[in-house]
Amino acid sequence: MKTILVPQGGIIMMTTIISMDDTESASGLAYAAQRLRDGGLVAFPTETVYGLGANAYDQQAVTAVFAAKGRPQDNPLIVHIADLHMLDDFVEDFNETAQKLAAAFWPGPLTLVMKAKPGVLAEAVTAGLDSVGVRMPSHPVAIELIRLAGVPVAAPSANISGRPSPTQAQHVITDMEGKVDAIVDGGSCSVGLESTVVDVTQAIPMVLRPGGITPEQIAETVGSVEIDPAVLPAEAMQIEKPRSPGMKYRHYAPEAPMLVFIGEAENVVQAITAEAARQRSGGMKVALIASDETLQLVKSDIALRYGKRHEVKKFASGIFALLRKSDELNADIIICEGCADKGVGLAVMNRLFKASGFRIIKV
Ligand code: TXA
Ligand code: MG
Repeated sequence: MKTILVPQGGIIMMTTIISMDDTESASGLAYAAQRLRDGGLVAFPTETVYGLGANAYDQQAVTAVFAAKGRPQDNPLIVHIADLHMLDDFVEDFNETAQKLAAAFWPGPLTLVMKAKPGVLAEAVTAGLDSVGVRMPSHPVAIELIRLAGVPVAAPSANISGRPSPTQAQHVITDMEGKVDAIVDGGSCSVGLESTVVDVTQAIPMVLRPGGITPEQIAETVGSVEIDPAVLPAEAMQIEKPRSPGMKYRHYAPEAPMLVFIGEAENVVQAITAEAARQRSGGMKVALIASDETLQLVKSDIALRYGKRHEVKKFASGIFALLRKSDELNADIIICEGCADKGVGLAVMNRLFKASGFRIIKV
């Protein structure tokens, strides 16, 4: 365990870094759980991305989560549970659809939006909605932390609002050191994209945010699924009141502007080659996030590979780290090769649309 002091406008706030690798990991986790129970903020690893946790019953703690992130108040938080019994206290309707999806995908990267029991959770968790998003993570550290805390844990991704989500402890340290009580370091997140958010309050479940569990998998389990039109870029810009409040904000964004190219591989390589050359001749430092195949063919200043072109899961698990890397290396512009929006590719493209501010070029 390592404690770091950071001056914050005159106040010194201590952030304890707890490593799951060292011999004190058990007592470190017990300490983190105690901090959660006491109203503290604890960042922890999940299989999707790192979360910034608070006791979901504690209004003051939950409000502090919004402050630490700089998160808009109207964007509700996901509540994390360690076992199904925890649902009884704050979920009104764990209906048949929800039960089937939970049986198939929990613990795992799926968030179910269900009707909440009124007046039980801290008000800020649901941001005034009558529903609540719930997830049982599969990461053993996350499950153990929630179990030890003994309370449901409200946790958004542990990044400063608008920045790429953290998939490594160092990302969390960069964004949250000095603003939270503890950061549990559990290594890299395996999925790398946030959970799939599904509204199960209606007869046909609707995907509000694509993620590690695909619409195809959901349809296989419950027969049918709809996808919120806000997920798809063309419509996304015209929707004024998206169903998932989080979808309307520019998100996951690196500091450098970003262009995403989609289409047939040959056309994409050609277009990226031309754009990279044009930007470089204008004196711009170009970061290229692309497949191994494309990077072999195109000159850039910073080459950031996500794997082979067909390795979409690898792309998903690496994309946020690559966006942060582009900033660290002071790229002036990021050029990115997109992927097909099928399966997990839908989630990857959804994040790229948002990270680029919808600067998508179809060639
Ligand atoms: O994988 C994840 O989901 C991660 C880890 C930490 O579990 N968490 C995460 O939280 O991504 P956050 O706050 O960054 O995203 C939560 C998303 C937002 O888009 C929010 O609007 C939506 O879930 N959401 C939460 N509660 C909702 C509700 N009651 N109705 C509709 N959307 C909801
Ligand atoms: Mg987030």
